[in-house]
Amino acid sequence: VGALFSSSSYAAEPAIDNILSNGELKVCFEAGYIPFEMKTKDGRFIGFDIDIAKHMARSMDVKFTPVNTAWDGIIPALQTGKCDIIIGGMAITPQRNLKVMFADTYIEIGQTVLIKPELEGKVTSYRDLNDPKYTLVSQIGTTGAQAAQKFFPKAKLDLFETSADAVLQVANGKADAFVYDLPYNALYASQHQDNVVHLDQSFTYEPLGWAIRQNDPNFINFLNNYLVQIKKDGSYDRIYDKWFKS
Ligand code: ARG
Repeated sequence: VGALFSSSSYAAEPAIDNILSNGELKVCFEAGYIPFEMKTKDGRFIGFDIDIAKHMARSMDVKFTPVNTAWDGIIPALQTGKCDIIIGGMAITPQRNLKVMFADTYIEIGQTVLIKPELEGKVTSYRDLNDPKYTLVSQIGTTGAQAAQKFFPKAKLDLFETSADAVLQVANGKADAFVYDLPYNALYASQHQDNVVHLDQSFTYEPLGWAIRQNDPNFINFLNNYLVQIKKDGSYDRIYDKWFKS
């Protein structure tokens, strides 16, 4: 009876056992986070995280199975066994870390803002945005949304399900600034030069990490050693350069 009604956590078994017996590494991410995870027109998933996930699966001799999941529900998806790991540009925050385990940081980023071009010269630093006359946008459940509340409590904040919907508000002039991760903003600004201006000074420190279910030291040990290996043998740099240097 207990097992029927317990809902908190999918598997007490170590993830590695599931991965090896199923012959697949199921990876949760939310496509739409450039350049980490994107969906191509023909339905394939590509990006920095996707290449790492494929490489990781290969190193375990199993197949890579993408699990594209709404950002809002990505931790519950992990907890209920829809995937074995989140490789999705997720910041290691204390709140999240109370629910999941994180492997060591695989990349460090920070928050920046994209402003609408009319504000260029008026808003010269992110600090200028803490003003009730501004409407800010970000994605629900992200560190961008959190940072907006913390750094700009006086401004109005509208949150959207996807980053694409949020940033579009600024690109078409309906909102003043988009608060989000630096790599995303830098790339978006380079692709939409007439529609947004990037203030590229980051004002938070955010380590990104791969998340797994709690109580799984075997998998964490695997992941941390795997990360050291790819950082030292050139695989990480090769994948990094592919997506971050054009
Ligand atoms: N790094 C931010 C966070 O951890 C945003 C990540 C958004 N990722 C995505 N796939 N949409 O909250």
